[in-house]
Amino acid sequence: MIGKPMEQALNKHLKDEMYSAYLYLSMSAYLEGLNFKGIASWMRVQALEEYAHAMKFFDFLHERGGSVTLLALEQPQAQWASVLAAFKAAYAHERSITKKIHALVDKATAEKDHATANFLQWFVKEQVEEETSAETIVKRLEAIGDSPGAIYYLDHELGKRGK
Ligand code: FEO
Repeated sequence: MIGKPMEQALNKHLKDEMYSAYLYLSMSAYLEGLNFKGIASWMRVQALEEYAHAMKFFDFLHERGGSVTLLALEQPQAQWASVLAAFKAAYAHERSITKKIHALVDKATAEKDHATANFLQWFVKEQVEEETSAETIVKRLEAIGDSPGAIYYLDHELGKRGK
């Protein structure tokens, strides 16, 4: 049986992962508006991945005899200054999620909740990948600069994700 403080912390993080899905979906809508269909599709796949992350918390809470409480989501930002600005925001968001996961690991360790600490290890590893993929795209966009041909090539490349 999971302790109440950890149950609350995991419910809060379930919401943070749901918010991640909402944020990436908002970025997808913004990119659709710019007609970058491939990059918009990449963001949409990312939103589904975030939903799956949230559901891992949903399922774990139930497995441990805890309760799920779905907290209210904030309205995500809807516009960015550029595709690069959107990916910089995505990268910053992933770094903030990594900090939250690490804080949860610290809490689980302090409370000697080994099952939760073990569950969270999947997310520790996942966050390394999440940060790397966002950072890689930021670097590619920075290298592209104002070259329209290169950004349409990237749009085509990123559109292959999940297909
Ligand atoms: Fe679920 Fe992108 O962290």
